[in-house]
Amino acid sequence: MSAFHDRNGQAYCEDLALSTIAKEVGTPCYVYSKRSILNQCSSILSAFSTYPVLACYAVKANGNISILKEIFRSGFGADIVSQGEMERSMRAGVDPKKIVYSGVGKRADEITAALRTGILAFNVESAAELEMIATLAADRGMVAPVSLRVNPNIDARTNPKITTGLFSTKFGLAEAEAKALAERVRQLPSLRLVGVGCHIGSQIVDVAPLAEAAMRMSQFAVGLRELGHELEFIDLGGGVGIRYKEEAPPSMESYAAAVLGAVKPTGLKLLIEPGRLVVGNAGILLCSVLLTKRTPEKNFLIVDGAMNDLIRPTMYDSYHAIHAVKTAAGPLEKYDVVGPICETGDYFGKDRELPACVPGDLIYLASSGAYAASMASNYNSRPRAPEVLVDGSEYRVIRRRESLQDLWELEL
Ligand code: LLP
Repeated sequence: MSAFHDRNGQAYCEDLALSTIAKEVGTPCYVYSKRSILNQCSSILSAFSTYPVLACYAVKANGNISILKEIFRSGFGADIVSQGEMERSMRAGVDPKKIVYSGVGKRADEITAALRTGILAFNVESAAELEMIATLAADRGMVAPVSLRVNPNIDARTNPKITTGLFSTKFGLAEAEAKALAERVRQLPSLRLVGVGCHIGSQIVDVAPLAEAAMRMSQFAVGLRELGHELEFIDLGGGVGIRYKEEAPPSMESYAAAVLGAVKPTGLKLLIEPGRLVVGNAGILLCSVLLTKRTPEKNFLIVDGAMNDLIRPTMYDSYHAIHAVKTAAGPLEKYDVVGPICETGDYFGKDRELPACVPGDLIYLASSGAYAASMASNYNSRPRAPEVLVDGSEYRVIRRRESLQDLWELEL
């Protein structure tokens, strides 16, 4: 049974009624299922159990420390893109030897902090970055582990804003340049080449491009080995999609089979960096109806959550299912579900069928565990919503609601 389900005409998370959380914590509010997160972690690891794999959770998907703790306790490492994500992960107890540091624009102070932490690898995306890491490591008498992120020019067939494996994007190195940088690493005593990798995009629901990327990276790794470069791992990034509406993402088993078929012959350790897959369907955004507004054109349901809490619908045109918490309610109405923010783009869904709502009714946005709270802002001076972790029939507030004071606390 899904963690979010109906029971006697009421929506539940695990064994707790969402209405209880709304009453006690208020809305808007993110609600996560601990069971669902742990299930995802173990099914990812068991799909790859026939081969040495390190799964590094992409912290950007949801970086709440309580959530990170659960994920790291399951055996995951971390894929980070900033010092902030690194420090969060360390506070949540990650093993630094399981951290990979990705991103096209690492700052000198961030690189230095990661060197001090002793991470597994820097995923390097340019010649300039490689030189910078070499100099910073040499200055400290250290040897930095680097992995070369290749841009394989593979179309992941996903939203253009989150496709990253094409030459038109800012990411990665063309294979020829990566090969030249591997040679350069040999000349720099403060660097050690430990891996090669790629990340071709996010919310990928077709296994073919993922399999193709695995094949290309394996061939590339073998080519480097023939040139005398010793490698430890191949990193295939994240990107496996989840079901928001009618998508049919690959099962964990078919993803693992496709990837392992290519990687196994190399004998190299496999790294993956799943984010959305771990937490996406383990969370929702719970909102209250403020009012309904009928115009000659439209029927609007105005709720207390807004684009600052969940920007995905307006930013990527993405679909999140919207459900009433009281599921046994009467006739259906068609609504545009919108927030209070002063932008036409502030919507969660258009022409959605929901039971006729009155002020105070509760609705929730499904599949809001990934890239929801982590992308939230204070736009329109809205305090950010709290986060709640449900475990069975209990819950814990794992991030308190911001106060009005919090909004201007940092302003001098
Ligand atoms: N590794 C790297 C290097 C990445 O850039 C990303 C995501 C991941 C792993 C994790 O990808 P995932 O498994 O979650 O697909 N805000 C967008 C998604 C942006 C993804 C950015 N990079 C959204 O809401 O759809």
